[in-house]
Amino acid sequence: MRMYDVIKKKRDGGELSMREINFFVENYTNGNIPDYQVASLLMAIYFNKMNKRETLDLTKAMINSGETVDLSNIKGIKVDKHSTGGVGDKTTIALGPMVAACGVPFVKMSGRGLGHTGGTLDKLESIKDFKVELSREEFVKNANDINIAICSQTANITPADKKLYSLRDVTATVENISLIAGSIMSKKLAIGSDAIVLDVKVGSGAFMKDLDHALLLAEEMVDIGTGFGRETVALVTNMDEPLGYAVGNSLEVKEAIDTLQGNGPKDFYELCLAIGSKLLVLAKKCSNEVEAREMLMKVVNSGKAYAKLLELVRYQYGDTNYIENPQLLPKANYVVEVKSDVYGYIKSMNAESIGKCALILGAGRETKESQIDLSAGIVLNKKVDDRVEKGDVLAYVHGNDMKKIEEVEKNIRSIIQIGEKNDENKKLVYGEV
Ligand code: URA
Repeated sequence: MRMYDVIKKKRDGGELSMREINFFVENYTNGNIPDYQVASLLMAIYFNKMNKRETLDLTKAMINSGETVDLSNIKGIKVDKHSTGGVGDKTTIALGPMVAACGVPFVKMSGRGLGHTGGTLDKLESIKDFKVELSREEFVKNANDINIAICSQTANITPADKKLYSLRDVTATVENISLIAGSIMSKKLAIGSDAIVLDVKVGSGAFMKDLDHALLLAEEMVDIGTGFGRETVALVTNMDEPLGYAVGNSLEVKEAIDTLQGNGPKDFYELCLAIGSKLLVLAKKCSNEVEAREMLMKVVNSGKAYAKLLELVRYQYGDTNYIENPQLLPKANYVVEVKSDVYGYIKSMNAESIGKCALILGAGRETKESQIDLSAGIVLNKKVDDRVEKGDVLAYVHGNDMKKIEEVEKNIRSIIQIGEKNDENKKLVYGEV
């Protein structure tokens, strides 16, 4: 079989067979097929799509590209969550400890930044010495000892996704239902959790811009999960504005710490409660979501969830001083205020554009080899529907290059739209699949 023929078939709108999918996934993982040919195939898939069968075969091929982790030795019902990607989405860092503090094992393989969206692994690496590369033994031991483990795709788990993910990131081939579903579900299924909650983002900052496509993605992933015998639920949630206020790696870790100390942004905390309560019910820890929310709020208010974050950091070799004193986290040399020169209400702020501002500042990757600036990003001072007076600070730009900061400052002024109050109240959760 030749890669050239596989690319040509998809370019011309054909349906790839299981053999062809296995061929490219296996040989790309082994280094036998170069990036440029796979980039070309990804673009063909982006334009001509894959059907359900192809998506399922892609997911299976990615799972089979590496090892799987058997969690049957871990006591209890193991849960996992995954977001399809958003701006300011630091959910795992707060939600994981909350769920684990309720006594439910939270096991997760996370990703790095993708396109204009941030990745949990990059964020966690703002914590000095935090190790995301766990061996299978470490992963299982941590989950058993402290109910929480978060790892990267090292330990040879779904290595195909690791390579494809970073190639998609820099070739504008992220926004495709099959590629997203295969990427996420291969990671979820390679790790033997029992129940999975998917957070499917929709809106300006999501890969799915409209509800119909978000629902299709949610259904595709839920079908794959349940087909593999896992309890899988998807929530479709709002990504029309960044989640919380902070966008950028260390800035988001700080916001997650604040949240676990009971001082988090309302929308972010609410999302943690919405996803967390589903996880606790699926884990049979609570019989209903009302009870589950109460349990989650209790572990935050009592400091147990925060203590669990400290434990997670300690178990993954990180320096807990960085959690106890967040001012130690990577800090930008400059913080510039963006002030409003008009009054009114925040009508909208395109989350993708804000994510791109964070990229300009260095918070994400331009090429596969780019180094991330962990300190860079944006901290919003207003959310959609907030009242603004002339001279109010709209956002703080954190960066290390004044030229880039000035560019972002200008962009933010046009991204944040101010005017009359919106007629409709914004929604956080649109639905469930
Ligand atoms: N998260 C992933 O892990 N993969 C995607 O393709 C998008 C979001």
